[in-house]
Amino acid sequence: MSPLAKLYLIACWSYIISFNVTFTLVNLDLHERGDQFARAAKVQGLKSRAAFKLLQINERYRLFKPGMTVVDLGFAPGSWSQVAIDLTKPRGRVLGVDLLPVQPPKGVSTIQGDFLSPDIQAEIKSFLRNPDRGRLRRTLMLGSSETSETGLEQALLEDEATGYLDRESHETTIEEEQDREHVDKCVDVVLSDMSEPWDPLEGLYKKSISNPYRRLMNTSGNAFRDHAGSMDLCRAALRFSYDTLKVGGHFVCKFYQGAEDKALERSLKAMFHKVHREKPESSRSESREAYFVGIKRLAKVDRDAVFTEP
Ligand SMILES: C[S@@+](CC[C@H](N)C(=O)[O-])C[C@H]1O[C@@H](n2cnc3c(N)ncnc32)[C@H](O)[C@@H]1O
Repeated sequence: MSPLAKLYLIACWSYIISFNVTFTLVNLDLHERGDQFARAAKVQGLKSRAAFKLLQINERYRLFKPGMTVVDLGFAPGSWSQVAIDLTKPRGRVLGVDLLPVQPPKGVSTIQGDFLSPDIQAEIKSFLRNPDRGRLRRTLMLGSSETSETGLEQALLEDEATGYLDRESHETTIEEEQDREHVDKCVDVVLSDMSEPWDPLEGLYKKSISNPYRRLMNTSGNAFRDHAGSMDLCRAALRFSYDTLKVGGHFVCKFYQGAEDKALERSLKAMFHKVHREKPESSRSESREAYFVGIKRLAKVDRDAVFTEP
């Protein structure tokens, strides 16, 4: 081999080696940063590192205030709910919804089921219609030191069961229907982090007859499928918000970036005063996940402008 060819080969090898080293270092850095958030979550008693995404979004937009009603879609394992219940104290209420049967964080009410099911959405609305349901009773709050120690808080949340017969449709007049629509708009913040499940932990009843894992929108590694699945979940969350968010209420939803997210953004712009795309620092930069934040629902929203596809 000629000396020139040797030199060329050596140059190629050193380029390949240096590229690999840089790539590994970048990856190490990403994972270290991920670990750093996971460690911080553990130390602070948070259910997962996802808490920091909401905390970082809230730091920017100040979504929560005491006494607010928050719906947390895809709440499990519950770190967003922990953040929400903490930031809406006192007298706030948080309702978490998830496919998975999970012990909720203290003070949080939950409904287990598929959010995409109309029955589950009817159940959520029925829960929310009673403004005291899911809140700590005032009498308990006065002497609450004892309750927080014993975990009684959870059991003593206002929570009269609504029988399914109560929910059965009965004939309603137009006025009743309008009243109901007005009463339904009682939510201050809708959060949706629905997507892949976190690694199952012990205490999960995986043997349930209708194994909820099968119905999950799992991230598949296929960017288009993940994107399309997340668009469906975001649109469902937006429809629900159209029915339940108060004027001035806020909306946060996770999505996987792709071709359709511009259309979703347009829909959001027809419903909220301001719409932001967020990629919180605690979200892994190699992931295509991002968040839409809709600030202040407008007083007059044209349903068609929000939901008619172009
Ligand atoms: C990334 S986790 C949410 C993490 C949560 N925000 C936290 O801070 O702990 C996504 C959750 O969405 C739930 N999920 C996905 N599709 C759903 C659906 N159709 N209905 C209800 N929950 C769903 C999954 O079960 C999973 O627990």
